[in-house]
Amino acid sequence: MALERTLSIIKPDAVKKNVIGEILSRFEKAGLKIVAAKMKQLTKEEAEGFYAVHKERGFFNDLVAFMISGPVMIQALEGEGAVLKNRDLMGATNPKEAAPGTIRADFADSIDANAVHGSDSLENAANEIKYFFNDSDVVSH
Ligand code: PPS
Repeated sequence: MALERTLSIIKPDAVKKNVIGEILSRFEKAGLKIVAAKMKQLTKEEAEGFYAVHKERGFFNDLVAFMISGPVMIQALEGEGAVLKNRDLMGATNPKEAAPGTIRADFADSIDANAVHGSDSLENAANEIKYFFNDSDVVSH
């Protein structure tokens, strides 16, 4: 499997629950390394830009409002097959459908407030990491 990077966001609901450390620990235990990280209060424009692919969807305005409802923690994760590995750790978008033991099954309340975001492809991962980090902010170790 190839060494990959993926973007992860711990969303406002999980930050409010004070479970940042528990979520990061799951990434590390699964062999993913945190190679960039920052706390951030997203602006409306930043959230709209990040989710631009969903702008025609009925939930777009609610999603943007939720993502700016409090601070988020944004990370770049690195590891073998990082994109899929992170998606497996996260579980299904709707926590009601998320497998037991996944982050969303354990920490998410609803499809709106679903604890984490993770890139869904290697190509999107590269673009999403660039959206939030400069090259020099990402440090392999
Ligand atoms: S889809 O339906 O396959 O396009 O959904 P997905 O790409 O997995 O996720 C879309 C993002 O929008 C958030 N969101 C919702 N999705 C579906 N339905 C509703 N009602 C909804 N509300 C919010 C969802 O959490 C995904 O966010 P990210 O941050 O990408 O995980």
